[in-house]
Amino acid sequence: MNRASGNQGNEGDIITIMLVDDIPEARENIKKMLAFEPDMKVVGTAGTGREAVTLAKEIRPNIIIMDINMPDMDGIQATTLITEAVPTVAVIMMSVQNDPDYLRRAMLAGAKNFLPKPVSMDELYNTIRTVHARNRALVKNINPIDPSTITTSSQTTRSGSDKDGNRAGHVVVVYSPQGGAGCTTIATNLASGVMKEGIRALLVDADLQFGDVGVFLNMQAQSTIIDLASNVDDLDTELFDNIVMTHDTGLKVLMGPARPEMAEVIQSNPAAVARIIDQVRSQYDFIVVDTSNHLDETLVSLFDIASKIVLVTTPTLVGVKNVRFVLDLFDQLEYPADKVMLVLNRVPSDKNLQKFTIAADRIEKFLRRSIDVQIPADEFTTLSALYKGVLMVAQRDRSRSPMRELLQLSELVYSKLLGNQIQGDDKAAEKSALPKLSLFGRKS
Ligand SMILES: Nc1ncnc2c1ncn2[C@@H]1O[C@H](COP(=O)(O)OP(=O)(O)O)[C@@H](O)[C@H]1O
Ligand SMILES: [Mg+2]
Repeated sequence: MNRASGNQGNEGDIITIMLVDDIPEARENIKKMLAFEPDMKVVGTAGTGREAVTLAKEIRPNIIIMDINMPDMDGIQATTLITEAVPTVAVIMMSVQNDPDYLRRAMLAGAKNFLPKPVSMDELYNTIRTVHARNRALVKNINPIDPSTITTSSQTTRSGSDKDGNRAGHVVVVYSPQGGAGCTTIATNLASGVMKEGIRALLVDADLQFGDVGVFLNMQAQSTIIDLASNVDDLDTELFDNIVMTHDTGLKVLMGPARPEMAEVIQSNPAAVARIIDQVRSQYDFIVVDTSNHLDETLVSLFDIASKIVLVTTPTLVGVKNVRFVLDLFDQLEYPADKVMLVLNRVPSDKNLQKFTIAADRIEKFLRRSIDVQIPADEFTTLSALYKGVLMVAQRDRSRSPMRELLQLSELVYSKLLGNQIQGDDKAAEKSALPKLSLFGRKS
């Protein structure tokens, strides 16, 4: 296994490439051919399928050129594992065989294209460029934040991991004391919204009794947090990786219990969910936690480990009154004010309906803090998205409310937690990367 130092896909327009072949000369040949192209760079090589999986996770190249026949783990199996773990990478399969069954299996495993062996220079260059261009557009679609708005310093990698492979591990807990305020809507879209190239996000359904993340994302819970109940204090990370499920968009999801009574198993230890998250947080850049409105010890232990708490309210008397209690509790817990982000959801856009709700500036006055983002009510898109099990932020028209505001929230969370780290000292760039939010009484 070989890795070029300091090259982790953060070189702007250069296509980073990893080569996988068990025959060293075969790797060398391709490497030599690629050396002629200024926009392509080989950032790593692997001699077995297993090595390829490990290295791909670490260096996250744009393209992998993969041999099919290899001892230990063949290229098809390796491709399955890699495309699952690193959804942003595009695998190009290389093989002497022209067997349609091979090609079909490779496609199913997630390969994006094929190259014959031996390959001509032109074929090699063209295929890489075409696959890369197409994949880039795809990745952009999954990841709504335009990577070009974030300037990477030469020291940091786009993957957000440090040199030991540890990630930022920001825990974002989404909570509302009021049922139906939109926690699950916000948590699912937020988790998907902070995912961008090289960023690993995990969504945890910590509404242990009536969690509906699975329904929102149209995912069947094959494995859930209950499967981790017996190892809470000494979590086996391999077990964890097997329990976590992957949504179509590449988002990782730790599902809640399938039935309410099952929650007891894990709730017998009130700190269980927080313990689990704490043990895996270094493997993710963001862990977004959806919660129930029930304020209990489980929840407080989640608040304690949170980097940010997204506190959701609706512009109603009950909603705002309960949020006031929660903010008082946070004061007692001595949380710094900037640990909390206040989101006002389901704001009616219709003037006539606004009469029945509390105006944003009055809410701000009453709560003695400003609202970070307000999300308009939109029954139609929300309900149709829910019905189809589609993430709103993954929808095409992102300029429409409430997708636009959900994305703004994602960008705000992203830039508050990871923006500084990635942008280093470049404050000007940081400013320009911030979303233009329409805050109350002020437009920025
Ligand atoms: N901004 C919004 N506009 C319209 N409907 C919304 C909005 N946010 C959430 N909803 C809807 O309200 C319902 C409750 O939302 P949900 O996210 O499940 O809330 P919670 O998790 O806080 O109980 C869902 O049907 C959801 O589609
Ligand atoms: Mg919910």
